[in-house]
Amino acid sequence: MNYNKKTVKDIDVAGKKVLLRCDFNVPQDKATGAITDDKRIRAALPTIQYLLEQNAAVIACSHLGKPKGEWKESLTLAPVAKRLSELLGKDVIFAKDIVGEDAKAKAAALQPGQIMLLENLRFDKREEKNDPEFAKELASMAEVYVSDAFGTVHRAHASTAGVAAYLPAVSGFLIQKELEVMGGALANPKRPLVAILGGSKVSSKIGVINNLLNIADTIIIGGGMSYTFAKAQGAKVGKSLLEEDWIQYAGEMVEKAKEKGVKLLLPVDGLAATEFSADAEAHLVDGVDIPDGMMGMDIGPKTIQLYSDAVKDAGTVIWNGPMGVFEFPAFAEGTRAVAKALAETDAITIVGGGDSAAAVAQLGYADKMTHISTGGGASLEFMEGKELPGVACLLDA
Ligand code: 3PG
Repeated sequence: MNYNKKTVKDIDVAGKKVLLRCDFNVPQDKATGAITDDKRIRAALPTIQYLLEQNAAVIACSHLGKPKGEWKESLTLAPVAKRLSELLGKDVIFAKDIVGEDAKAKAAALQPGQIMLLENLRFDKREEKNDPEFAKELASMAEVYVSDAFGTVHRAHASTAGVAAYLPAVSGFLIQKELEVMGGALANPKRPLVAILGGSKVSSKIGVINNLLNIADTIIIGGGMSYTFAKAQGAKVGKSLLEEDWIQYAGEMVEKAKEKGVKLLLPVDGLAATEFSADAEAHLVDGVDIPDGMMGMDIGPKTIQLYSDAVKDAGTVIWNGPMGVFEFPAFAEGTRAVAKALAETDAITIVGGGDSAAAVAQLGYADKMTHISTGGGASLEFMEGKELPGVACLLDA
């Protein structure tokens, strides 16, 4: 896979209309629509500012949520335009449509040094279908295509991949940085490379585990998916999250790790509860067997020690997925302790987006990490070693 791509610095954008794909898919308060985390908007600023300084006319675009081709007032990008304008300290012209009359007129009138934002790309069902006509219409408004939507590079959609067939296509600084940091950690890591994988499902992490078994020195398993591994090792799991169909696979992974000389660490104790609720009482389980009628909710103190020790001497740590139900304070300690261990180690620390990024931010350790990816699914697919269509379509350097 060649990810050595041309960037915005390798192309002349002065005085040109630039279609800039961003990932402005930001979380919003359900009741008020207020943006609750603007990290992805901030992450796009260096590229936007560079383009504006170069006197480009910037036509920014993004998706928001999953409107599935239908117009949904709750998923308009208008609040993003407002936030972007505050962050840039300049007007962001907002188009009421995507490739309709309003967008086309505003794009045509856009002057060098100005920025506009199109309405939510996924209001048009042709976006996710990677429809060539839709891609062509998007492209028709601009002369250069810049993608900086790292969070969406695993999607082959019209605005992330299709459009590159019609315009010279380069990456922005965010994609460049994400690929450099994560690519470096996978291709030529400072060793030992420790990968910490959590979250609820083994099934969503199979590709990553498979790929990391060839690269990592230590793989640490936590979160809901650890109970499928525990079951494969013959432990009792009570009513913990279990993926029956993946028990055999989990067992095979343990064997494969042994063959390859990769240390695979599983929880040795945990916290359990009788029900999945924030008020549930935490019971310490000093061992791997979860009692009948209980479910595992977090890793325990001995596991925390074991995992923190593994992180202490690491050269590089990659983390994806929480260690327990961290959104419930009584079961957040495992995730908090791992975040703290990452914050305190001298290793290069890389946190995959999504839940682990949210956990690190919520627990106050965001500033202490080398890199927190803006991609959830995208960073996962990158760690799987999969081809990312939104990067593959860009011009080679
Ligand atoms: C994300 O939030 O991971 C990206 O914006 C991609 O969104 P999607 O999963 O709806 O394609």
